[in-house]
Amino acid sequence: MSDATRLDSNAWSPFAPAVMQDPAAGHQALLQQCPVHHCADFDPPFYTLSRYADVEAALRDVATFSSEFGQGPRFTDPQGMLCDAPQHTFMRKLTQPAFTPGAMRAVAPQIEVLANELIDRIIDGPETFDFHDDFAFPLPVVIIAGLLGVPTADLDQFKAWSDIQVAAMGAEDPAQYAKEQAAFFAYMQNHLSTRRAQMQSGADVPDDLLSLIAGAAYDDGALIDNADALSLLMQLLVGGNETTTSLITNLVWRLLESPAQYAQLVQEPELISAAIEESLRFDPPVLGLYRNTTRAVTLHEVTIPAQTKVWINYAAANRDASAFPNPDLFDLQRYQHHKPKRHMSFGLGVHFCLGAPMARLEAEIALNALVKRLPDLRLMGEGERIAPFFLWGRRTLPVARK
Ligand code: HEM
Repeated sequence: MSDATRLDSNAWSPFAPAVMQDPAAGHQALLQQCPVHHCADFDPPFYTLSRYADVEAALRDVATFSSEFGQGPRFTDPQGMLCDAPQHTFMRKLTQPAFTPGAMRAVAPQIEVLANELIDRIIDGPETFDFHDDFAFPLPVVIIAGLLGVPTADLDQFKAWSDIQVAAMGAEDPAQYAKEQAAFFAYMQNHLSTRRAQMQSGADVPDDLLSLIAGAAYDDGALIDNADALSLLMQLLVGGNETTTSLITNLVWRLLESPAQYAQLVQEPELISAAIEESLRFDPPVLGLYRNTTRAVTLHEVTIPAQTKVWINYAAANRDASAFPNPDLFDLQRYQHHKPKRHMSFGLGVHFCLGAPMARLEAEIALNALVKRLPDLRLMGEGERIAPFFLWGRRTLPVARK
């Protein structure tokens, strides 16, 4: 586990090799010495907010900390529902029904079947395997592909495309992915048009996410246009895949780092939901997202100019001792016996992660199946981190099943 005070705030940058390798290496320095950090050697330069209270206030003040120029590090058009009201309110309302408790109950059996099929394959395969590739990666992508009616034959291509969407969001030159992105858009466009045509002809269509979006209408009753429908579809894909994979991978990684913790969950699976919350707090799959200031803001004697990118560092806020006692300890009991403040890993306020119930459900089902069927799981190495600096997860995680 990291020595959380080892990086001086002057040396801090999300791109510093030590921070890339372990984001927690810089949290305490930022929190204690530099609550408003300026990163000048990035184009565009940006500020970083880290303290719990500042992160909370910024996420709630959407009039000042806007999403209109994207939630990524560069100024872009807003994507999907990562925009301001009224467009945001409209899109959120439209997709909310896909994530109700009833919708989660409906999808739970599919997740359970898939988690067990993946474990069947692991048990029949070699003793050592990559936990990311063989379990944590396929699970969310196959589930969301199912909700979007993507045929099994297209799954591998679909997975590759959805990874490219994430890579493009953090890339210095997103244009390098333009060709693949265009191919993905064309595929989804075709998929959407086919479903719309089926709906218009009165054919029976599945009651899934694709039908929900294909049949969605504006307040005046007109069907939503292709651009809006596609950008929503993309957001649901990109927002939910790699993040959920990272949640499952990060949690298993931490548990296996101290095997007694994994053994404890094998004995006491009722601790799993508390373990998921602690993993989200300790290792947030999204370290932070950006907002754009609509006016100058002065905080802790630093003035952030208007029209500036601000990185809202959820990961550091989750390690703020004023909100979480002993913040650098991964503590399985934290969410079991106490009522800590809510972590920031799903954001807060109007943009609070729409897919949080789905991510929690997938992680819960996955962990229950793993502790039951692979009780002797062992870590064989640290693996590698995923590439985008604002995300945190393992691209590989070598393990042994006994
Ligand atoms: C562990 C997994 C996940 C994590 C860590 C995560 C994290 C986040 C975060 C940090 C935000 C933005 C909050 C903000 O702007 O401040 C967000 C928004 C969002 N997430 Fe997730 N997410 C996860 C899973 C999912 C899943 C499974 C889906 C859908 C299938 C999803 C769909 C969305 C959508 C649509 C938004 C935009 C909500 C809005 O702007 O109103 N996410 N998520």
